[in-house]
Amino acid sequence: MISRGYRRTTRATANAKIRDNESPRRRLRSFLLCAPHSKDVSHTRCVQKELTMHRTKNDLPESTRVAMIKLLNDRLADAIDLFNQVKHAHWNVKGPNFIAIHELFDQVAEHVEEASDDLAERAVQLGGVADGLTASIAKRTSIKSIGLDLPDGRSYVDAVSTSLAEYGAKVRQAIDTADKAGDKGTADLFTELSRSADKDLWFVEAHLYSER
Ligand SMILES: [Fe+2]
Repeated sequence: MISRGYRRTTRATANAKIRDNESPRRRLRSFLLCAPHSKDVSHTRCVQKELTMHRTKNDLPESTRVAMIKLLNDRLADAIDLFNQVKHAHWNVKGPNFIAIHELFDQVAEHVEEASDDLAERAVQLGGVADGLTASIAKRTSIKSIGLDLPDGRSYVDAVSTSLAEYGAKVRQAIDTADKAGDKGTADLFTELSRSADKDLWFVEAHLYSER
């Protein structure tokens, strides 16, 4: 078990080692050596794996691109987790308004899937590696999971709206983070995804109002 303090120290060391003029080939080699987590690979190299960068003529400073790739991968994990949660709800929901809610969840899942594609591709455009592996998603996601088997349709609507709202809040924060970092393109992507998440939340939450 590696302590948080040690992790921070090794991350700082890894950051310090990655200079703008370091060869991309060397960085890729670090990644390849690190990938199997073999006995003779130090933790520092494992940390470098997260920061592996590919050559690009994109003129954003590398430090900005590294920060944006981390941010994009964090939100990518949220989006993939949210997609799975909404699909789970689509399959298992029962009760009054079944067809309407079942179909709505499918539409929301489609929008979230498109969002995950945009997030992943932006990370690669900036010279990074898009991390869509299942084990990484489980570790990285910040969205609380909905229950395995909820008692009725209203519970599914409530649970999905809570997860959508959490995702929407994180994406909204990311707009400001990207803007402050000077990456208007990533900020614009997050703005678009935020608007879409807000709209989906509206559609789902509308099912929570009781009839008069
Ligand atoms: Fe389906």
